[in-house]
Amino acid sequence: MTAAPARDTARGGASATARDDGPNPVPPVAPTTGAPVLPPVAPIPIADLHGSLADPLLDAMTFLNEVTERYPDAVSFAPGRPYEGFFEPEQVHEHLDAYLAHLAERGLSRAAVRTALFQYGPTKGIITDLVARTLANDEGLDVPAESLVLTVGAQEGMLLVLRALCADQDDVLLVSSPCYVGVTGAARLLGLSTVPVPEGPDHGPDPEAVAAAAREARAAGRRPRALYVVPDFANPSGASMPTPARIRLLDVAAAEGLLVVEDNPYGFFTREPGARPTLKALDRRRQVVYLGSFAKTCFPGARLGYVVADQQVAGPGGRLSLLADELARLKSMTTVNTPALSQAVIGGMLLRNDCRLRRANAPATAFYAANLETLLRELERHFPAPERARLGLDWNRPEGGFFAVLTVPFTADEAAMERCARGYGVLWTPMAPFYPAGGGERRLRLSISSLTEPEIVAGVAGLARFVRDEAR
Ligand SMILES: Cc1ncc(COP(=O)(O)O)c(C=O)c1O
Repeated sequence: MTAAPARDTARGGASATARDDGPNPVPPVAPTTGAPVLPPVAPIPIADLHGSLADPLLDAMTFLNEVTERYPDAVSFAPGRPYEGFFEPEQVHEHLDAYLAHLAERGLSRAAVRTALFQYGPTKGIITDLVARTLANDEGLDVPAESLVLTVGAQEGMLLVLRALCADQDDVLLVSSPCYVGVTGAARLLGLSTVPVPEGPDHGPDPEAVAAAAREARAAGRRPRALYVVPDFANPSGASMPTPARIRLLDVAAAEGLLVVEDNPYGFFTREPGARPTLKALDRRRQVVYLGSFAKTCFPGARLGYVVADQQVAGPGGRLSLLADELARLKSMTTVNTPALSQAVIGGMLLRNDCRLRRANAPATAFYAANLETLLRELERHFPAPERARLGLDWNRPEGGFFAVLTVPFTADEAAMERCARGYGVLWTPMAPFYPAGGGERRLRLSISSLTEPEIVAGVAGLARFVRDEAR
């Protein structure tokens, strides 16, 4: 596209004649107010805006949303959103009422309740105590409420943590690759570099590969600052780290002077039983900054997440603070505080479930596990081993979570995804945008979280036809 049509559009249909003939001496008069209509400022060249805006990474999610809207009848394996059958609008009031009752029980006056709900609030949040109690019940984590910051989704937590930890351009963030785009995107917004550490086939990042990447970065004059990792049922790969690898990872990170940023939105959703302690639960050195999200375990509309940052920070004169306090200082300049209403609703949900979200999520866990089973069973049915080998097709078998990855014998890009949506009524997510240093072109992500069993059965049937036709 040339610049001219774009400019015409941006000028809201200002006449080409007026522009071509030079400035119009008598600007048109606005009919309603009588104020003269002035020409809008010239379109801003994207090159004059922050570099991240020209990065295709930022379009990956928008593209998916657009395609989903264009093919509303397709079976969509694309979104990682929770199943809506678990939500009833009345629950919002019930949760809120439970939180208000809790405040009253704690002896808050009506005026104090009014302030808590309607006013600006403490930057670290108003339900830190309830979240700390929930973490103790669900994860065996003994963290003081002061080390928590409630954020607008885990996404804000990522931004704050990256901003705080990386002092300057020499600092780099190690990320397991493939990696959640939320964190690579946040790094891009902040102008920070990421160094990908390849994940093993099923088990997340190899600790020795983390050590090698840290040494390499240091040899190149950079300071490897932290490792971002999703140890449980990662997005996008579905990979989970075995416990010995978790312990080894913490040792390696300590030896390399790396903090670990653990992101754990999917940990409850196990398909295969087994102990999967969080890195934070294994953390004996306070080296893990823990990102939590209520998006999948409560509901994403609340946009509520949190950071556990119990590390000490040494200030001038040896004054010590908590990293959580430093994050709160940053937050005071971004969202000021997380909406009290969201916190009140989620707080009520925690209270109504005795601060035991894992137990409250048992039906969801069973639902997602059954969906993942259905996906794996149907893939197996359509592509038995010999057929799989002949086609050069494969997939992983995640122990839980929302996602599995299919490796196909063709380029699984956006164009292929559209062909699949148009001709076969099935949507999925190309994996390539999840690889910070390239790769994954023949991989696609399948999410089972928002579908029912019959939809998955029908979706895999359509996908199987597509894969066979593309592989010809
Ligand atoms: C790896 C990962 N982290 C965090 C989140 C949730 O972020 P938020 O709490 O901002 O919705 C997601 C959701 O898709 C995710 O996949």
